[in-house]
Amino acid sequence: MSENRFITETLNEQDPVFEQSLRPKRLEEFVGQIKVRERLDVFVQAARARGEVLDHVLFFGPPGLGKTTLAYILGEAMGVNVRSTSGPVIDKPADLAGMLTNLERGDILFIDEIHRMQKTVEEYLYSAMEDFVLDIIIDQGPNARSIRLDLPRFTLVGATTRSGLLTAPLRSRFRMSNRLDYYNHDELAAILRRSAGLLHIELDPAGALEIASRARGTPRIANNLLRWVRDFAQVKAPGPISRDTADRALTMLEIDRHGLDEMDKRILEALVHKFDGGPVGINSLAVTVGEEAGTLEEVYEPYLIQEGFLQRTPQGRCATQRTYALLKAARPSPAPDLFQPPTAPAP
Ligand SMILES: Nc1ncnc2c1ncn2[C@@H]1O[C@H](COP(=O)(O)OP(=O)(O)OP(=O)(O)O)[C@@H](O)[C@H]1O
Ligand SMILES: [Mg+2]
Repeated sequence: MSENRFITETLNEQDPVFEQSLRPKRLEEFVGQIKVRERLDVFVQAARARGEVLDHVLFFGPPGLGKTTLAYILGEAMGVNVRSTSGPVIDKPADLAGMLTNLERGDILFIDEIHRMQKTVEEYLYSAMEDFVLDIIIDQGPNARSIRLDLPRFTLVGATTRSGLLTAPLRSRFRMSNRLDYYNHDELAAILRRSAGLLHIELDPAGALEIASRARGTPRIANNLLRWVRDFAQVKAPGPISRDTADRALTMLEIDRHGLDEMDKRILEALVHKFDGGPVGINSLAVTVGEEAGTLEEVYEPYLIQEGFLQRTPQGRCATQRTYALLKAARPSPAPDLFQPPTAPAP
């Protein structure tokens, strides 16, 4: 059986040079997420007009929707440096102290995967965010003492795919919290046309829409599919990318018209065929499909839920009418009524 994990690989293995080249630099170039964009615009303009440092901002939502991009856009809009790190990389308070003391006033410290920061490091971040000081303990035993480091006023931009795992004290220290949602087809088509322009790819509007409709609502996936379709067109169908070319290219990758890939199908098939449509706990489902529960929750489920192929209930995950329709499977009839009316005694 062919193992087609294009979507997961595309989401996890980012190509930094490629992404960099397509990353919008200004808020006006950032497609979609209108509410978030408008809010950020006000936030930036107000801070700039007052000559103040931007307050701390949090971005959350599934991978590939533009969290890192927005962090850099904020840096550009405020005319400040962006220093980038990620939660799991900062493994002791001294690393954090090193980074914070090297910032200049107004700089942005971007912490990706902020939910994966160590507890001990996170606690230092509280006073840094709130009072712009760090109380560092130096020496050990009887000589131990704490010294206070004053920090420049800075902006923390946090990003997470798992906002639910953020602790309340950390979350409350962000002045603004922005949720990024999946993009609709028109927005993705606009992103694709922009990318095609930058990459000098000839892409028909209908070709753009075809790729968009199979990109799982995610710009990163859309851009990566575009790259694949370009390769396909070069070899198999030279000329501007039409709807038909896009369709053939994506069919070759086994990405169906809903943008579902092999892993999505495996999840839905397990749900329907092994668990009778659910409810089933996330851990059992994860074991069955051979993927980590966290990845299922972070990468696969949100899109399946949004598209109505999966339901999350307090009892567990359930299939929907759409799941059965997609898999062309018959929905089990409700459990038979066990109560049998007493048969009349034979005369
Ligand atoms: N609104 C948008 N308009 C145009 N391009 C976008 C938009 N959002 C994201 N992109 C493109 O998608 C790619 C992925 O975006 P980005 O790296 O910001 O996602 P992310 O949310 O940080 O993902 P992760 O959670 O994996 O870190 C970027 O290369 C960027 O060019
Ligand atoms: Mg990112």
